[in-house]
Amino acid sequence: LGGGPLAGRHVIVTSGPTHEPIDPVRYIANRSSGAQGTAIAAALRDLGARVTFVTGPAVVPAPFGVTVVAVETAREMASAVQAALPADAAVMAAAVADWHVANASGQKMKKDGSGVGPALEFAENPDILAVVSKGPSRPRLVVGFAAETTDVVAHATAKRARKGCDWIVANDVSPGTGIMGGAENAVVVISDAGAEAWPRMGKDAVARRLAAKIAGALA
Ligand code: C5P
Repeated sequence: LGGGPLAGRHVIVTSGPTHEPIDPVRYIANRSSGAQGTAIAAALRDLGARVTFVTGPAVVPAPFGVTVVAVETAREMASAVQAALPADAAVMAAAVADWHVANASGQKMKKDGSGVGPALEFAENPDILAVVSKGPSRPRLVVGFAAETTDVVAHATAKRARKGCDWIVANDVSPGTGIMGGAENAVVVISDAGAEAWPRMGKDAVARRLAAKIAGALA
């Protein structure tokens, strides 16, 4: 067994987008490379944690040395997270689709030449972060993310209360910041201690600092 401040701890990390099928060949997705979630899983592993990495179809490969659970849809991600509990901490970095297509087709949909496309109906996906935060097997520490374009601290503070998580890692993804899909991130960590703004740094550095903060909270 390895050492490190998180030795003996189990942490669940969700990462990447989810894909919500329209038919067997088409889907609706969220824009997410999985870079930040992957870096967080690797940083937790480096501190000795046992990591269950529940990932949607990401661009970035999953880290080595973690248990990878590959999922496609939000509903599959929710089941995989439930199956991975109990855990000491959960870090929900996935960009989960808010809806799935309620009238998805079992066969490939054909265009009929009428000039009119199919009408898709949407149903809400489970909010994995809220369900885990309010559930019976709640990890001691639950960390959520918030991508905002305005009033970052105010919106993230409200989100933390609504979801019932301990910390929200909020970032400003306004066009022009270069954060979405970029290598750097500038985050504000919201906790019961208030808002802590971290300087702009690489996503790997954000991950290491967050992993160290998690180790401190679980010590
Ligand atoms: O509500 P919003 O999508 O902005 O919240 C973002 C946070 O909630 C992220 O931590 C994300 O992983 C999580 N989330 C989730 N399940 C959803 C939607 C969001 O776990 N269905």
